[in-house]
Amino acid sequence: MIDSRKGGKPLGGALLDVLLKRTPDRRPMWFMRQAGRYLPEYRAVRQRAGSFVDLCYNPELASEVTIQPLRRYDLDAAILFADILVVPHAMGLPLKFEEGEGPVLGTVRSLDDLNALRPLVGSYEVRQVCETVRLTRSSLAHDKALIGFCGGPWTVASYMVAGGSSDRVDAKLAAFRRDPWFVALIDRLVVESIEYLVAQAEAGAQAVQIFDSWAGDLIGDQLQEFVLDPISRIVAGVQARVPGLPVIVFARGIGSHQIKAAALPGVNAIGVETELGLDEIDVNVALQGNLDPVALLAGEDVARREALMVCAKIPKERHIFNLGHGIRLGTDPAVVGAVVDAVRRSEA
Ligand code: CP3
Repeated sequence: MIDSRKGGKPLGGALLDVLLKRTPDRRPMWFMRQAGRYLPEYRAVRQRAGSFVDLCYNPELASEVTIQPLRRYDLDAAILFADILVVPHAMGLPLKFEEGEGPVLGTVRSLDDLNALRPLVGSYEVRQVCETVRLTRSSLAHDKALIGFCGGPWTVASYMVAGGSSDRVDAKLAAFRRDPWFVALIDRLVVESIEYLVAQAEAGAQAVQIFDSWAGDLIGDQLQEFVLDPISRIVAGVQARVPGLPVIVFARGIGSHQIKAAALPGVNAIGVETELGLDEIDVNVALQGNLDPVALLAGEDVARREALMVCAKIPKERHIFNLGHGIRLGTDPAVVGAVVDAVRRSEA
């Protein structure tokens, strides 16, 4: 899949070129949360689907919103439309999104809670998500990459412990104490995440990203044990079954420890948070990031200027242009377009 060629060019275009250390013909670019409520065409489809959760499991509509940003902007990749909380949902925890309040998820706070969860393989949820991957891949141009994803075990566990968004204090406490049920929860999420990413790759995802958005909560032994080791086991487990599948690790907020994320065997790129300059770390893999999503709220001139400053720090051969975190609600789609055009023009 990864190496199949069409029209003389490798499938997946500039994004796969940078991930696989080939010379790209341009700086690959996509945006975390590029599909979403800031786009009027997304809001229209979301309304047709009913709820956000219904949209995630409706392959036709999920595929449509996956592709929408590529119709508007000259991007190099689509990211599967789903959510990191699909994993606990497919394992049997109830999930809904309350308007303006974020996710409401069933909780896991004991070994009994954990043992009540089922394997996600073969679940309705995973079958629907994989159908979205297949539909999307079949309608994307060959030089556009399709990125699959899952959450990092630490981040997903933090939502499972709290039952939704939180300050992650209860998960942190469990990590400090090494509560046996919490250690077992992380282990279980490693196993399930491997299955989930392998299923996405087999359905047509050409690269995968692990979103550990709250990795910066932990330092020292806890960072190693609950963020870096689990991610490393996921990468090894996935690549054992899908040899060569490129992996992007987004362990947000770990600062100088990004060097450790980049050094994990099999990692092809790291996503870097806004707070760390791309010229401040010396690693052997590609860097993804890291325009401040807030710069997109500051208007076209500021956003363009900041985007070009990010690009000036790193050559296109080693860079995947992106944000340091997801696009924020209230972002003007025209500003995103101005950034895309500015990055493209700077290379012409
Ligand atoms: O475009 C894309 O990036 C692909 C789809 C995607 C979504 N969520 C869609 C979504 C991806 C990759 C995610 C990842 C995700 N989900 C993360 C990790 C990245 C990050 O932003 O830190 C996390 C922590 C979640 C959990 C989650 N999902 C929360 C806390 C919320 C509520 C807050 C919010 O932004 O609304 C969501 C909802 C969500 N996920 C929306 C979208 C488009 C908005 C829901 C809606 O349409 O009403």
